Parts: sequence; structure tokens; C-alpha cells
Amino acid sequence: MDSIVVTGNGPLHGQIAIAGAKNACLTLMPATLLSEEPLTLTNAPRLSDIRTMSTLLESLGAEVAQMQGGQVLALASHAITNHRADYDIVRKMRASILVLGPMLAREGHAVVSLPGGCAIGARPVDLHLHALEAMGAELDLRDGYVHARAPGGLRGGRIAFPMVSVGATENALMAATLARGTTVIDNAAREPEIVDLAQCLRKMGAQIEGEGTHTITIEGVDRLGGATHAVVPDRIELGTYMLAPAICGGEVTCLGGRIDLLAAFCEKLDEAGIDVTETETGLTVARRNGRVRAVDVVTEPFPGFPTDLQAQMMALMCTAQGTSVLEERIFENRFMHAPELMRMGALIDVHGGTATVTGVETLKGAPVMATDLRASVSLILAGLAAEGETIVNRVYHLDRGYESVEEKLGGVGARIERITGQ
Ligand code: UD1
Repeated sequence: MDSIVVTGNGPLHGQIAIAGAKNACLTLMPATLLSEEPLTLTNAPRLSDIRTMSTLLESLGAEVAQMQGGQVLALASHAITNHRADYDIVRKMRASILVLGPMLAREGHAVVSLPGGCAIGARPVDLHLHALEAMGAELDLRDGYVHARAPGGLRGGRIAFPMVSVGATENALMAATLARGTTVIDNAAREPEIVDLAQCLRKMGAQIEGEGTHTITIEGVDRLGGATHAVVPDRIELGTYMLAPAICGGEVTCLGGRIDLLAAFCEKLDEAGIDVTETETGLTVARRNGRVRAVDVVTEPFPGFPTDLQAQMMALMCTAQGTSVLEERIFENRFMHAPELMRMGALIDVHGGTATVTGVETLKGAPVMATDLRASVSLILAGLAAEGETIVNRVYHLDRGYESVEEKLGGVGARIERITGQ
């Protein structure tokens, strides 16, 4: 297994290009199942999760061609030849459940493995299933699979989510585009990835209003056509790399970055003493003076502070002046990076969904274990600020969501290298 070795090396200077959003791409790709015509995605990130989704779609009969080194994905689903999404692929990635809505809407039947648990909490799919039931789907859970049928096709319905779910909103939105009549999704997720999906579906001919607000209304159409769509920039990759100069000093411009994708996060950086300037090319980030100040963070659905940046923010707070309280409200078990950071000398006290971090002057390099995608990158950030060498093991998690981390951070002066395992 590969590991990444990081050696603290002082301030960072230069530019980092931000890729297209993994989470947007993972929901745009299954949209191909809604139409016989081609869907071309540009600005796609080159990640193992994208390859997993390609394999899943191909197993259902879709064609997926990678062009321009993987930055362009040409998808086509002339016919869906297999209606069963197998456990062997689905278990690798929870976003696989996003094929359920489109397949059911176009074909009237689908069988999809339940994704199972995941390291950051139970993460059920009940909201996805309730949404499809509200559109007339008949569901049967057997042998670890969802067997879904909509014999006369899906029909429009009113979906009132009891809690905000990004994935369930996406599944419902895609399914509703081909349902008969009007669907109203209340308490919809408002993430930029939802807006991106709605914009792409609209190019394919869908009738959608209200994306980016709490209520999305979809007027079903008989068929969707093809489209070409550029994936929105990855706000989580952006936030992660914004934290690199924040934690190490220096000045880094994240090319393609936009404040509107990360307003709550940028406010917290400002409070901590970090300047963020929006220019025509992206966001330039630099520490104002000296040590950053401790700030409190509560994770919330968009437009709140993203849970996917909580681990990285914790790494920053480990060396801040003062004590910060980080409250995780989206996932119940998302502090697995805390004990690893503590191996590097961080002072962290975790109680349920709250972590109290008392900043120390310096962290010390140590061998650590990446437990999930965002945890792994938080350990790299901490390693950049630490004295000596940090070895981050089990980096396959990292490759699911960050392309060319070594090149991107190495390009701004970080000492980082990958050790290829057996
Ligand atoms: C997406 C993102 C993930 C991010 C998360 C929250 C993708 C591929 N992944 O995940 O990176 O961390 O949003 O911003 O886009 N829940 C239920 N029942 C359900 C669905 C969700 O109880 O049917 C719960 C979850 O366990 C969690 C909360 O709702 O506690 C939010 O999850 P959700 O927004 O659905 O996350 P994902 O779409 O899985």
C-alpha cells in the first residue's frame, strides 16, 4: 500500500489548480442513464471514485470514454442492458446508490445493492427510498438489495425530507425529470453540486425550478436529450488547499476558486486571521500575521461550514493560539483523525460530536494512519506544519478524492513524496 511522506518545510508560495468537483461529477455521471443520447462532462477530476462510477455505469450497459487524460468524460447509455448494480461495485462507494433513481425513472425497474456502512457513520439510504416511494415506486428490500419497480412509470409527488440529504435530493431530482407530472422537493439540499446537477439536467431538456433553494419543483418530461456540461470546481479540494498557506505561512493562489462556493468557511478563515482575496483567476490566501487564532466551528448543510472540511480545519486549529470547539452535526463518527493528530502532539479532547482543540506551538512529525478521505488530507496538512517527517499510511483513501496531491503541494514548495508500496 502506498504511503505519503511529508516534511515540514516552512512557508508555501505559488499557484494550485483546483479540479472539477468529485461530488458533482459522481452525480452528473449517473444522469447519463436518463437519456439515450450522449452526455459529455468536461473539467472532470481524475480520481479513483470516478473510475469506480465508470465501472458501475459500464456494468449497466453505458459507454464511458475518457478523453484528454480523463478531464473529459464521454458517456452514452443507448440502452440499459443490465438492471442490477452489484454489491461488489456498490460497496466500494456509497454514491453508487445514485444510479437507482435514473434507472428506475427510465426503465421502470432496477435492483441496486444497499451501500452498507462506512467509516464515518451508519449513513442509511432511507431518505432516497422514501423519495422514490413518494413518486410511486414499489420497493422491496431483500438479500441486501433494493428491488425497485414502477410498472406504469414514476409519477410526480410531494417529497418532504425530514432532514437535508445531498444524495437523496440528487436521486429524487434525477428521477423526477422523467416522472409524469409535477414533483416538489421540500427541504432540499442546496449544495453547489445540486445546482450543477440541475443545470446539466436542464441542458438535457429537464424542467426544473428552485435549485439552490429549499424547494425544488420539477415538471416531468417524456424524454431527455444529450448535453455537454463543465463540472463545477471542487469546493472541498479548494478549501483544503486554502488551508495549506494558512497552516504553513506564505501565499498561495487557488486557481478557479470562488468565495461563493465556500462563504462560511472563508468567514472562519477571516476570524482566524487569514486573508482571502478573490481575483479574476481564483482565491489568494495568506496569513495576516503570526499564529492563527482559534475559532469555533459547527458543521452544517450548505451554506454552512462543510463537514468535508472539518478534519482539515481541525489540523489548522491544532497549531492555533487558544482553544477551539469543533462540533460535527452531519455525521456521528467523524473525528477519527483526532487520535492520529494527537500522535503528532496535538491536544484534542473528543466528547460525542464535539472536539475541543487546544493549540500548540508546534506539531511533531510521526507515522499516522489515514482513516477516511478527508482525514487523510488533514494529516498531510498537519505534516506540512510539523517539525520532522510525517508518514501517512493507507493513502488509498486520499486517491479517491484528491488528484495529484504530491504535484499540487510540491508545486508550491512543500516537501512531499509518495512511497509506492508492494
Ligand atoms: C454527500 C457527499 C459527502 C458529504 C455529505 C454531506 C457525495 C458523493 N458525498 O454525501 O462528501 O460529506 O454529502 O455534505 O456527494 N442520511 C440519512 N438517510 C439517508 C441519507 C442520509 O439518515 O437516506 C443522513 C446521513 O447519515 C448523514 C446526513 O443524512 O448523517 C447527511 O447525509 P447526505 O447529505 O445524504 O450525505 P451524502 O449524500 O451521502
